[in-house]
Amino acid sequence: MESPQRIDGTAITIVFDALAGAPPSLLHVGGKLPDDEDLHALRLAVRPKRHGSQPDVPDLATIWPQLGRGYLGLPAMALRRGMAALPSNLVLGSGARIADRSAHIELEDLVAGVRVLVDWRIGAGDVIRASATIINAGDTPLAIDRLVSIALPLPGWATYATRFHGHWAGEMHQDTTPIPHGRSGGESRGGRPGFGGANWLIAHNGGFSADHGRAVALHLAWSGDHETVIERDADGAILQMGARYDPGEIILAPGARFTTPDAVLAIVDGGRKEVRRALHTHVRSDVLIGRANWAPRRVHLNSWEALAFDMNEASLMRLASDAAAIGIERFIVDDGWFTGRRDDTTSLGDWTPDSRLFPNGLTPLIDHVTALGMDFGLWVEPEMVSPDSDLYRAHPDWCLHRPGVDRPTQRHQLVLDLAKPEVSDHLFGVLDGLLSVHRIAYLKWDHNRELFPNDGAGHNQTLALYALIDRLRAAHRNVEIESCASGGGRIDCGMLSRCHRVWPSDNNDAIERLRINRAWSLFLPPEVMGNHVGPSPNPITGRMLPMDFRAKVALFGHMGVEADPAAMSDADRATLAAHIACYKQYRDLLHNGTLYEIAFDDAGLFGTLIERDGKALALVARADMATDYNAGPVRFPGLQADRRYIVTFPLAGPKPPNGVAGQLLSGRLLRDTGLVLPLSRPATAWLVAFDQEDEPA
Ligand code: GLA
Repeated sequence: MESPQRIDGTAITIVFDALAGAPPSLLHVGGKLPDDEDLHALRLAVRPKRHGSQPDVPDLATIWPQLGRGYLGLPAMALRRGMAALPSNLVLGSGARIADRSAHIELEDLVAGVRVLVDWRIGAGDVIRASATIINAGDTPLAIDRLVSIALPLPGWATYATRFHGHWAGEMHQDTTPIPHGRSGGESRGGRPGFGGANWLIAHNGGFSADHGRAVALHLAWSGDHETVIERDADGAILQMGARYDPGEIILAPGARFTTPDAVLAIVDGGRKEVRRALHTHVRSDVLIGRANWAPRRVHLNSWEALAFDMNEASLMRLASDAAAIGIERFIVDDGWFTGRRDDTTSLGDWTPDSRLFPNGLTPLIDHVTALGMDFGLWVEPEMVSPDSDLYRAHPDWCLHRPGVDRPTQRHQLVLDLAKPEVSDHLFGVLDGLLSVHRIAYLKWDHNRELFPNDGAGHNQTLALYALIDRLRAAHRNVEIESCASGGGRIDCGMLSRCHRVWPSDNNDAIERLRINRAWSLFLPPEVMGNHVGPSPNPITGRMLPMDFRAKVALFGHMGVEADPAAMSDADRATLAAHIACYKQYRDLLHNGTLYEIAFDDAGLFGTLIERDGKALALVARADMATDYNAGPVRFPGLQADRRYIVTFPLAGPKPPNGVAGQLLSGRLLRDTGLVLPLSRPATAWLVAFDQEDEPA
């Protein structure tokens, strides 16, 4: 690779450069350069000048940092042969193919007997998928203790990082801080990404906002443990992301190879709007399987916050009838249906309908549900086992455990060792049996504890999980799957490429959901985010919220209900039914349009607008008391300035919130001047619909 080389997306260019056989560095990561840009001149323009204290051929801004070449931060990989660390000094091998939309770069160290293939591919939305493949070219086993999917030298403008942290029912708290000198980062150790969304990160410039600023958004498409590190030294910052392996977990025989999961990377200019545009496009086009053929997202009723464990055939049939009456299209029986399960202390693993609750099995209930015009869904948690279960009694060695040592539980349960073929085969048999015997359209696949002890089993566990879901999907192509992990404990593009939606949080409190959904929406399109109307008071927060508010918030996602219609007042039931009808009317727009954040200076206000083909629907909601009496006009992004729109307020009742209801206003006015809405009281929400006037003939 004598001269710098580039790959291009629709709006981005990345320029690789390699000097003296070193692994490539990046000369440019950002907006698209003209086709005829002189890359030699670019090299002269941007290559850092030498300074007094560095190797004679410094690896600056390298995509493969390594100690052997004088990089003093964290190397991109850590290898061993036997007990001893294997020093390596990879140089550019013979095959670098860098052209069009992909870079395939071979690195090698013939002395260490190691080859690494670095792959970057630009896909839909200009999102880059990056991975590394390592080959043991030596003649003894090679242990891989660390191997990143991507090492990305950050552009100089990326001086801030937005990360996420959280906990059960409180996912995705956002934290924006300057990138400090030294090492910063995060990792997960529970065998899944965790509630905090730490496998999502945005590095950006200081002025990054809803519409402005440059950013690099990075994610690891992996459902096991991960590690993210930003190392900033006097020469710049390198961001590394990869799966986390325990020492000894990955050992390659001579000649064997190992490929990391993909890192997902978006490089944008235009604030959060552009991060969303890139990631939503990527998820819709390149992640979700067969999405182009998806049927409209049906309205769910899930039994969990309606009945919890207090279920039987009669109560579920009654709930199903009440659900159908308000317009529900899919009825999901959550936890509590299988043999022995009366609370969360027992029975995971015993996946047969409890004969005390269902004397004739699930069939009468499913027949009842389908006769009401709904389809049927079922909750399972296949990866887990309760110590008090027939499965555990029959196979006490099937769970992850350390022989001779205590088996600590979480939520009274243990984790099955899916990497054991007999365990995966058993689970496939059980699930395949349920799906073959019953008319089940949907599985809610839950995962309610961390993997411990996992003693180096995490990677294989994740691969075995993928294999199990893939096998099940191949056998039952029409069954939809929701991925849940006590809410948002395992949301990543690895799961999303195998399922139809995720459960962003167990927290159905509409005020909490406004914040949680806004954070997830940076990366995920609304149609994959389950969004339910819960009871009032909310079982987790204790907060009471009006049905009108709860239902409007639930419209902006994959709408569902997780409450008992019979426990609602007639007025609330009617309000909910009207919102369900409204969701059906708008879901095509909501689930295929472009999502915009409505920006406010007032932290108590939330707003989202989704636009498609000249039509848009917005939600404007107040979560917290206003600082001033008057919220000020709400300015609606995503509308065309030079077109006019009929403005209406769906489900506003007899008194529209603004005198312009039904009138034509220009996109310019709606975008730049805005509308004043009554928004002084907490728990107030408005829907605003925009219909573009036909183009004059
Ligand atoms: C987890 C899920 C909930 C519900 C319960 C049932 O907490 O996140 O939605 O399914 O399990 O036990």
